[in-house]
Amino acid sequence: MQAPQDLLEQAICARGRAYSPYSKFQVGVAVRTKVGTIITGCNVENASYGLTICAERVALSHAVSQGILEFTQMVIVTDTDAPTPPCGACRQFIYEFASDLEIWTCNLRGTHRYFHLSEILPEAFGPATLNKAREAKS
Ligand code: THU
Repeated sequence: MQAPQDLLEQAICARGRAYSPYSKFQVGVAVRTKVGTIITGCNVENASYGLTICAERVALSHAVSQGILEFTQMVIVTDTDAPTPPCGACRQFIYEFASDLEIWTCNLRGTHRYFHLSEILPEAFGPATLNKAREAKS
């Protein structure tokens, strides 16, 4: 399935703003909110390497800081031969807000892959799991 063109363009722009002096690996993300707006993010690295934040989490945190909590689609862009799927931490972070998210990973040469989040994060732990745990206790 083709990546949505508007998200792809915004993710490519966001990738250009990546702060990745250590890995030199630039990642750009654009996410469509449920109300139809587009929010972007890029990876932000740190001299203390473990503090690095992936582009996916930057994009979602950027949206949450604006009061936006619901998302429908995400495009991730890297300059790799094979498009890069989100890391495990980002899959979990995405699940918190968008268990039904459609994700396209794309490179700069037009190669893309499509995933539904449930394919790449099966049997996920999330907000509903905690609610169920609470119900069982009371
Ligand atoms: N990175 C992302 O932005 N998203 C991912 O899902 C995987 C990795 C970034 C983090 C770091 O700045 C660089 O890519 C190399 O790991």
